[in-house]
Amino acid sequence: MDWLKNDVALITGANSGIGRAVLRRFIAEGASGVGVLIRNGAQADAMREEFGDRIAITVGDVRSPDANEEAVRATTKAFGKLDTMVGNAGVWDHFASLRKFDGATAKATFEEVFAVNVLGYLLAAHASAPALRETNGSMIFTLSNASFYAGGGGPVYVASKHACVGLIRQLAYELAPDVRVNGVAPGGTVTPLKGPESLGKADRLLSDIPGFSDAVAEAVPLGFIAQPEDHTGHYVLLASRENSRATTAEIIQSDGGWEVRGRPARRA
Ligand SMILES: NC(=O)c1ccc[n+]([C@@H]2O[C@H](COP(=O)([O-])OP(=O)(O)OC[C@H]3O[C@@H](n4cnc5c(N)ncnc54)[C@H](O)[C@@H]3O)[C@@H](O)[C@H]2O)c1
Repeated sequence: MDWLKNDVALITGANSGIGRAVLRRFIAEGASGVGVLIRNGAQADAMREEFGDRIAITVGDVRSPDANEEAVRATTKAFGKLDTMVGNAGVWDHFASLRKFDGATAKATFEEVFAVNVLGYLLAAHASAPALRETNGSMIFTLSNASFYAGGGGPVYVASKHACVGLIRQLAYELAPDVRVNGVAPGGTVTPLKGPESLGKADRLLSDIPGFSDAVAEAVPLGFIAQPEDHTGHYVLLASRENSRATTAEIIQSDGGWEVRGRPARRA
């Protein structure tokens, strides 16, 4: 449990779901401190209670360049350096399909979802690159089965997560050899992932969709829906210089086997 001993990380959207599980795991792996960029200040107290002075909290929106820069500043001020930036904050589109959109809603949903899911990652990369160059650190982005396959959302979410594949590849190319850039692509996971305001679904959770867990479990060969903790080892591996020194522009799929989707008939 010491793969990240004395490392410092920054995680966006670390107050819940996959981000919070990665935060817990990084600390368990010996990270000396983790900066977190969270949108809702009301969650700061609960986070301080759980993590104490092991975290440095910045409250802000990932769509803001200033918030991302402030998060990097707060992290390096509190812990002296930055080794890994995890871009993770995201919104989902609740399967909003093309035929259900009018033009204005399609535009608003596109702008909101791409701003959080793609621009948010770009701004986090921009803000953290100088500090990561100094440490020969790395970036890790949370992608999705929707980064590779249809059906993990509507066209807006799926396009946004596909766009992040291009972002990883281009950043890995531009920032080499100083900074490694990789991704983890979870499949359906039990989290409070929310929808966009533009669709009036800012408080509607993915995991509240009736039958969602069973549908995910049924759709993948491994036959279960993941918990956030199931993905965290991949982030640790990619963050670890010792264990991933030669790995950049890689995306680890942690989705129960979407690549070979469908379950084989069980033999007696
Ligand atoms: N849950 C799934 O089934 C699943 C599957 C594949 C990929 N993902 C991806 O995992 C990542 C984490 O999501 P999660 O499932 O843990 O859900 P989550 O809702 O627990 O985490 C998302 C986080 O992003 C934050 N966030 C959203 N908009 C923000 C903004 N504008 N500024 C700052 N923070 C903002 C939220 O507050 C939240 O903390 C997302 O990128 C999501 O697309 C989730």
